[in-house]
Amino acid sequence: MSEASPQPPRDQWGSRIGVILAVAGSAVGLGNFLRFPGQAAQNGGGAFMIPYFVALLVLGIPLCWAEWTMGRYGGRLGFNSAPGVYSAIWRNRFAKYFGAIAVLIPLVIYMYYVVIEAWCLGYALSYLSGSLMKGSDPAAYEEFFGNFVGAGEHGALLQPGNRSFLWLLGATFLLNFVLIYRGVNKGIETFCRFAMPLMVICALCVLVRVLTLGTPDPSKPDQSVIGGLGFMWNPDFQALSNPQTWLAASGQIFFSLSVGFGIIVNYASYLREDDDVVLSGLSASSMNEFFEVCLGGLITLPAAFIFLGTAVAGFGTFGLGFNALPNVFAAMPGGQFFGFLWFFMLFLAAVTSSVSMLQPAIAFFEEGLGLKRHASASILGLIAAIGAGFIVYFSKGLVALDTFDFWVGTGLIYLLAMIQAVMYGWIFGIDRGEEEAHRGAHIRIPRFVQFMLKYVTPLYLAVIFVAFCWQNV
Ligand code: PFF
Repeated sequence: MSEASPQPPRDQWGSRIGVILAVAGSAVGLGNFLRFPGQAAQNGGGAFMIPYFVALLVLGIPLCWAEWTMGRYGGRLGFNSAPGVYSAIWRNRFAKYFGAIAVLIPLVIYMYYVVIEAWCLGYALSYLSGSLMKGSDPAAYEEFFGNFVGAGEHGALLQPGNRSFLWLLGATFLLNFVLIYRGVNKGIETFCRFAMPLMVICALCVLVRVLTLGTPDPSKPDQSVIGGLGFMWNPDFQALSNPQTWLAASGQIFFSLSVGFGIIVNYASYLREDDDVVLSGLSASSMNEFFEVCLGGLITLPAAFIFLGTAVAGFGTFGLGFNALPNVFAAMPGGQFFGFLWFFMLFLAAVTSSVSMLQPAIAFFEEGLGLKRHASASILGLIAAIGAGFIVYFSKGLVALDTFDFWVGTGLIYLLAMIQAVMYGWIFGIDRGEEEAHRGAHIRIPRFVQFMLKYVTPLYLAVIFVAFCWQNV
């Protein structure tokens, strides 16, 4: 890529609400409905919300504003990829290597995220056809899930009995491919404008169903809606003295808001010069928190608890979504319909996120290698399919997914987030940042947030990064 020859942005968002929905679409995903309830329940229940909100205020929202601001700035100079935008901010040859991390992380996450997305599609279709209503036989759901996950041998998913999953995976890839091939406006924005409201409707229907379940089995009075909410939200303040709780909370904020991945930098680079970044950033983040805390936090675990009691604690994040919940839908009145709504909603949420993961690499191919969008999308589609193929082949249960999620989705993110905080606070500079952020803004970022971005955010991140290395390396 040439720093000296910036080109005009190739694509632009159609409307303000469109870009907010696209960024919120990237943020709202499996992380909100599966990862969040699992993390909260494992890390102190209600007490988890203390480090969670600290991370939201110290890391999530400030970094989100920084990414929106740097992205729109880079876009104005004609750069859309993270390496380009970082090089425009920091005229140093290392900048583009840091930018490369922001291209690589979402691409790798895409390779396993899309596999889970295909599970959601498979589950939604199975509810539609009725084949997932297997009565009260937990072993039947375990077996069904095992076929999707490829439990057992390497290559289990390629065995004749499991091949239907490969069709689902192919269909999921195709949908993602079509959306990114059509571009940020005609593909991603158009899809998010229709998918986001539909997701709210589906999730609200399931929420009402869960909250009106009462105590389905009178012989187990503890397993009520209130008991389920208590199980998820009862605070265990002892967890606060464990660094793992603080690590998990910050990791959840990054993953959930899609902050620290370079996604927002790329999306914001397609804004117009005076599009409001402050209000848009805040709206997209608030929308994500609504989905996470109000919907994800009130549906998944409480519903599972009502029917399975304290046994839900043993299911783990994926087990909770794909193994415990089918037991729940089988037992609840109207379960087939609500099961379909739930997994269809999860599928939409996952697609609006996964399309955002390929976009940074597309921008890099266009800008760095001079390829046209359609060629970039095709080459990347192929690379991602090969990567996902490897993951599926070697998956042997959930081990490969978990390993990728841990090292790339958690470890590298701290590093990239730190780079971005330093890039904004120290290289771009908070005075310039403040001026740039408020161009066309309808609300102001409080001044202390700029100071926080310069001093507190990088320090907080550095402490967390050291704690992460300490615990895991
Ligand atoms: N924010 C998405 C979720 O909560 O599921 C996940 C995600 C999207 C992670 C985009 C990373 C990313 F680049």
